[in-house]
Amino acid sequence: MSSLYKEKSIRIHALVHAILQFLESKRGRFHGIDLVLKKMQTIDLSLHTVIDSKPCDTRHASILAEAIENITAPHLRGIANCLKQARHDLIWREDNAQFYTPQSDVGDGYRNCNLHSLLVGPDACGFNAKDFSLGLFMLGPRTLYRDHAHHAPELYVNLSPRSGWRLSTEVWEDYNAGSVIWNAPDTPHATRSYNDPFLSIFVWLENIDSICRVVPFPDWAEIENDLSRNVL
Ligand SMILES: [Fe+2]
Repeated sequence: MSSLYKEKSIRIHALVHAILQFLESKRGRFHGIDLVLKKMQTIDLSLHTVIDSKPCDTRHASILAEAIENITAPHLRGIANCLKQARHDLIWREDNAQFYTPQSDVGDGYRNCNLHSLLVGPDACGFNAKDFSLGLFMLGPRTLYRDHAHHAPELYVNLSPRSGWRLSTEVWEDYNAGSVIWNAPDTPHATRSYNDPFLSIFVWLENIDSICRVVPFPDWAEIENDLSRNVL
């Protein structure tokens, strides 16, 4: 085992276990978190199983750095510190609507600045797992991630101080750092970032190969316009 791989493995292992520790601290309080913890118990997350993957940086590196710097909530300090250490060990990828049905209108805002890194799952840079995904997800500032739905049940833990969510209603609500979002299968949801980038942990519990579909809402253009003018 090379010393580089060993050092990298230690940092990725620490990051995943910091996330696990946060989820453990919420055990019994969120049904979705209990389901995630149950699934993660079946996955080997020991140090020697960290995948020897080649890191991949991103064109959004400065926005990502800002998003990580903005994780200041005391109860997220463990995750923030580990993420600062492991950031350059990870594979960062963009979604070019490849998870969507063809011709899906995901919008330019999302296309211009979305980013994720898969820590646990098939093709992850941390740990291998079948039909389960856990990773980090980022949106650039003033971005609407349009309403969409998928068969996979989904959990988010918001790391950023403020993000907007529309969860199977017409009403937008702001959530703070450490808040938990649960999207049941096929339930529409949308996210928006404000003046700062948005960073979160995401989990797809099962049916991870299911395709996403956008759920049209008449106010997308208006919201995107308001976000671009920074009036929200
Ligand atoms: Fe989703």
